Amino acid sequence: MITVNNLLKKVPVADGELEILQGINLDIKSGESLAIVGVSGSGKSTLLGLLAGLDVASGGDVVIDGVALSTLDEDARAALRAQKVGFVFQSFQLLPALNALENVMLPLELAGVANASARAEEYLERVGLEYRLTHYPSQLSGGEQQRVAIARAFASRPRILFADEPTGNLDTATGDTIIDLLFELNRSEGTTLILVTHDNRLAQACSRRVQLVNGRLETFL
Ligand SMILES: Nc1ncnc2c1ncn2[C@@H]1O[C@H](COP(=O)(O)OP(=O)(O)OP(=O)(O)O)[C@@H](O)[C@H]1O
Ligand SMILES: [Mg+2]
Repeated sequence: MITVNNLLKKVPVADGELEILQGINLDIKSGESLAIVGVSGSGKSTLLGLLAGLDVASGGDVVIDGVALSTLDEDARAALRAQKVGFVFQSFQLLPALNALENVMLPLELAGVANASARAEEYLERVGLEYRLTHYPSQLSGGEQQRVAIARAFASRPRILFADEPTGNLDTATGDTIIDLLFELNRSEGTTLILVTHDNRLAQACSRRVQLVNGRLETFL
């Protein structure tokens, strides 16, 4: 489903160039659940952004269902994301002017889902936020914002779900609820899960784990 060939990411920095990813090769099968682990700064979020077509590589390629992302312009990448991909950002990226329900509804409405409001409410309920529907992001705790971001990504029932530290701000019990929800989606809809995590419970629940070390996939745990 996703093939990564010698993927490189370089960024300009004050004293030259920083090679964040130094030739990543990876094969992800449909329905698989993959955990990407590694210390802070090892390039996990950068890799996730490239896999999801949110960022552009400096070399190499990501191929999703036979389509090389390097051949697509920004609009085509956005169309591919809308069609196949859900993303939970490390920083949540909720829209501050919209309340929880509206944040989850917006992408559903853009995608033309008929019962967007009911669907959004259903997923907010599944992450335990039915009593916070009309709260704005600034009126939600960090863990609550994270759960809104998760509900938003789940609600569109994507074929591939990318999540960057989805349990990072949650207590054990709430984290377990989210882990259950992730794998329920994986089982019932065949959703491919690609997760960045420091949470050992989540990593162990995945069918496969890879470790990023200084921009390389070195150890397969
Ligand atoms: N646009 C950029 N310009 C310069 N440096 C960058 C840029 N983006 C990321 N970096 C650097 O690249 C490295 C990898 O960043 P990335 O966000 O992928 O790490 P991470 O593994 O997700 O870390 P964390 O666990 O802390 O979230 C970091 O050292 C970061 O400072
Ligand atoms: Mg990160």
